[in-house]
Amino acid sequence: MKAASFGYSRARSTAHALELLVEHPEGRLIAGGQSLGPMLNLRLARPATLVDIRACPELRRYEETPDAVVYGAGITHAEIEDGTVPDPSPGWLRRAARNIAYRAIRNRGTIGGSIAHADPAADWPVVLAALDAEVWIEGPDGARAESLVSFYRGPFATSLGEGEILTAVRVPRPSPTARFGYSKLAAKSGEFAQALAVVVEDRDHATHRTVVGAIERPPLVIESETPFSPDLADARALIAARLPAGAGGPVHAAALARAVRDARAVPGSDSPGGHAGSGPSSRLPSPASDGAGPDRESPIPGHRAGSAIAVAEPAGSGSGSGSGSIRTTIRLTVNGQRFEAEVAPRTHLADFLRERLHLTGTHLGCEHGVCGACTVLIDGIPARSCIAFAAACDGAQVRTIEGFADDALMNALRGAFTRRHALQCGYCTPGMLVSAWDIARRAPDADESRIRDELAGNLCRCTGYRGIVEAVADVLADPARPAPAAFSGARRMPAAARMVRPAPDLREAPSPPPRSDPSGRLRSEPGGVADASAITWRTEVSASPETLWATLRDVPRMVAALPGAELAGPAEARPLRLRLVTAIGPMRASFAGEADVSFDDDARSGRIGGRAHDPASRSTSEGRVRFRVTGTPAGGSELDLAIHYRIRGPLAQFSRGPVVDAVIEQLLARFAENLAAAAAGEAISQAPPPGGVRLLLAGLGSVLRRWFTR
Ligand SMILES: Cc1cc2nc3c(=O)[nH]c(=O)nc-3n(C[C@H](O)[C@H](O)[C@H](O)COP(=O)(O)OP(=O)(O)OC[C@H]3O[C@@H](n4cnc5c(N)ncnc54)[C@H](O)[C@@H]3O)c2cc1C
Ligand code: FES
Ligand code: FES
Repeated sequence: MKAASFGYSRARSTAHALELLVEHPEGRLIAGGQSLGPMLNLRLARPATLVDIRACPELRRYEETPDAVVYGAGITHAEIEDGTVPDPSPGWLRRAARNIAYRAIRNRGTIGGSIAHADPAADWPVVLAALDAEVWIEGPDGARAESLVSFYRGPFATSLGEGEILTAVRVPRPSPTARFGYSKLAAKSGEFAQALAVVVEDRDHATHRTVVGAIERPPLVIESETPFSPDLADARALIAARLPAGAGGPVHAAALARAVRDARAVPGSDSPGGHAGSGPSSRLPSPASDGAGPDRESPIPGHRAGSAIAVAEPAGSGSGSGSGSIRTTIRLTVNGQRFEAEVAPRTHLADFLRERLHLTGTHLGCEHGVCGACTVLIDGIPARSCIAFAAACDGAQVRTIEGFADDALMNALRGAFTRRHALQCGYCTPGMLVSAWDIARRAPDADESRIRDELAGNLCRCTGYRGIVEAVADVLADPARPAPAAFSGARRMPAAARMVRPAPDLREAPSPPPRSDPSGRLRSEPGGVADASAITWRTEVSASPETLWATLRDVPRMVAALPGAELAGPAEARPLRLRLVTAIGPMRASFAGEADVSFDDDARSGRIGGRAHDPASRSTSEGRVRFRVTGTPAGGSELDLAIHYRIRGPLAQFSRGPVVDAVIEQLLARFAENLAAAAAGEAISQAPPPGGVRLLLAGLGSVLRRWFTR
């Protein structure tokens, strides 16, 4: 699947980016593109224009002071991992960075992009909240500083307003007596966390903070004057007391208990946690000695730069992602040869290489950054060419597998792959070799475990990994292996600079988004978005059962109570035709569907069931809702909802069940509020749910559809 058409503007500076956001109110910032790229390719996000901030010099600065380090938003995860920029702690940030995604993702993904994206399963929000970081924001109304904890408002929701840019994050230096514990539980190396916990303990100052993430809500921050218990049962109780049923499971308690134990690990042991004076993990690579990063490559032998070759538009121009009315001119050096071409901004680099330059050694598998088949070098470092847009690579040096024909190190790897039977169909092999070549240069001392870890982002569907790992190990073990060469291109490195702290934001934070009833009246049984999920919900309404039932019976009023939903046909028609527009973070879905609705007036209960389709993302959803109104002794009523839903397509592929469930909970909370208002004769709120959460996700969509569809 390819991205929908969009315009593209590259900002020269932060001020220019702010102007571009005013000029393109429907525009969206793109930094590393490692979260937005997959969403664009899956058509879950369809912005009119992308404002690229990668070239803004202010966002590539950092400042180290006695009490903090400030990172410009454009500093990459890999630059923190490598120590290219300072770490205010004794290696804690480097360790956390190392656990984010895969190296090719870390090479382009930025700390600012990760914070602003507010994925509830992301690493930085949890780690930086534990360290009491603050974010700096610039926008049409000026600059402000805000605590990272108050910045988060919900899944994919932050305090960022229209036209605002997150410019920097300030991380205070921890006390020398502080200790750090970290535990990320994920299905495999490089995947998003299923549970994440960080503990920062400073016994001398009697401050203890733990932050638990991947709970599909803003990170849960718990402060204590006494040390946390490493006992699993205590961790369970701690989480259960602060989160609604179903939001934090045993896996979160396990992560928390492990993080506490990690913080208590003996300094100097294998654990990189522990005392602030202890060094970073032995698993961490040493910082680049020259501050220019360890990933360097030589000019490509056998290739002359020469003058640029103009790349013609392919006949018909309708193939791949090259079509579309908007065009931009790019100049690229590919395998030592300069090219100039007009491309549609939505054309990703892999399609450009394959379809326009006929460099078909770069393969395409998933097209959303997961499989690694498309890995190439961009400015000397590995990157996923399926989620790097060609327009965003203007001026870059690209090296594909074809560009390694005369490379001695690559030839050694190729030989080892052959000897060790490290390939069968060869589909993954170009990406695998580029990643292996990068390991040989960047981590020449890697043992088997590290090699496996480093290759976790390259999937092989047929060979199995033993031969591949052995082949890489063979080359690393060979004392005569060709030496790594230096990259001669112009890659811009982060620059030390004085950075001015904006005034703190003294505005009162809005009330938090609606939360599941902590008394446990909400029951969520997520089964993953791709599987059927069930949510039951009960809410009390002051209106009498008769009035509430009459409101539900009035189909236009009932539909109006659901944010984003509208009737697409007569209210009396069966099936009922509905539309639902949902949005969460950069994701947007517009579902159209049909629903069968039935009411049982005697029992004051009913059913809605149906299916809906979002043609843009090619996602479908089906579901059913049962509802019942009962009276309370006080003369009010209770509304019970039971929802079963299933989503298929890219939304299901991309989203995670608990996020969808969390969004649905918020949607239902607003729906219930609106029904109560309608029953009381008050105006229904069309505003997004509190906390700035402009919700709805795939899950939502599905719920909605079920709701109004079926
Ligand atoms: C396969 C895969 C695995 C991953 N695994 C993990 C993981 O384990 N842990 C983890 O934490 N992350 C993971 N990620 C996400 C990765 O870390 C991203 O790099 C990061 O979340 C987003 O950073 P970015 O610079 O690429 O942002 P982009 O994708 O460019 O932008 C993301 C969003 O933030 C907005 N934005 C970007 N910069 C700014 C800014 N300065 N101000 C305001 N808004 C801004 C954009 O408009 C967009 O909505 C993974 C990604 C992939 C593809
Ligand atoms: S990571 Fe690019 S095709 Fe799979
Ligand atoms: S060799 Fe077939 S996918 Fe790896």
